[in-house]
Amino acid sequence: MFRIVDASVLAPGVHRFEVEAPLVAKRARAGNFVIVRTNATGERVPLTIAGNDPDKGTITLVVQEVGKSTQEMGTFGVGDSFLDVVGPLGTATHIARVGAVVAIAGGIGVAPMLPEIRAHKAIGNHVISIVGARTKDLLILTEEVEKASDEVIYATDDGSFGYHGFVSGALEALIQSGREINEAIAIGPVRMMQAAVNVTRKYNIHTLVSLNAIMVDGTGMCGCCRVTVGGEVKFSCVDGPEFDGHKVDFDELVARQSFFCAKEKIAKDHYEATRGECKCHGR
Ligand SMILES: Cc1cc2nc3c(=O)[nH]c(=O)nc-3n(C[C@H](O)[C@H](O)[C@H](O)COP(=O)(O)OP(=O)(O)OC[C@H]3O[C@@H](n4cnc5c(N)ncnc54)[C@H](O)[C@@H]3O)c2cc1C
Ligand code: FES
Repeated sequence: MFRIVDASVLAPGVHRFEVEAPLVAKRARAGNFVIVRTNATGERVPLTIAGNDPDKGTITLVVQEVGKSTQEMGTFGVGDSFLDVVGPLGTATHIARVGAVVAIAGGIGVAPMLPEIRAHKAIGNHVISIVGARTKDLLILTEEVEKASDEVIYATDDGSFGYHGFVSGALEALIQSGREINEAIAIGPVRMMQAAVNVTRKYNIHTLVSLNAIMVDGTGMCGCCRVTVGGEVKFSCVDGPEFDGHKVDFDELVARQSFFCAKEKIAKDHYEATRGECKCHGR
């Protein structure tokens, strides 16, 4: 069992958990993720390691409620435990000294972005973070991002804070201002990453994206997380989750992500109707 030692709500439906997982905490690198199950019949939920403290033996997870399993996680608090936390999984991000790095995060994407910008700053890169959300109240981890970056640009869809528009617009404005950017990372909803990549492609800026393909085993055996990158089939869990964004087939990724929508909706409706009291788990 993996005990939650600290928990907080960062924004409506967004939870931060500090979880005891000493072996994972010791080995986690920026870009790694874990697969978490709440109970023996629970779904296997991939979550990026948003931070790790090897001395305390804890990792930080940030969870956004979107469906049945993440809603259930949202009911967890200090003293509760996850049944499994498997990891660290995935290939860690290659962090090299390149100069100026722009990190573009949309919504919950800011949590997985944090370890990466910390690693870039630690190695001496100049980090410009562009953090976006639908509205000001949904911006999360602002203090942490400001501490880990040299510059931060905020963007909100409704213009309630910072740049008025999408992060891709703020990115284009930054590049057009004449700033030299040597590398970009984009993490967030698939269409947001695609929009960011469409901007950086025009300026020939190498861009990494973190693909949230649907996963099951997380070890390269089930084939569920198949993605096409540069015309080649890759497994997001072991070959990624980070890939060269200019080579990713985003339309295929979006199509594969919607495979289980009908079943996911049944499970969510059932969970909401029973408030988790029924144990048949939507079957
Ligand atoms: C490498 C990786 C890292 C991730 N990191 C985070 C994170 O740090 N924080 C966070 O809130 N979310 C993260 N996600 C997404 C998270 O795993 C899904 O939101 C979660 O599995 C949804 O489960 P659900 O039962 O609540 O919703 P469901 O109703 O089952 O699904 C809602 C949507 O979530 C996605 N999804 C569902 N199951 C999976 C799955 N097994 N693998 C991937 N996506 C799935 C699909 O797009 C689906 O349409 C990550 C996904 C991947 C692949
Ligand atoms: S999740 Fe099974 S191969 Fe990647």
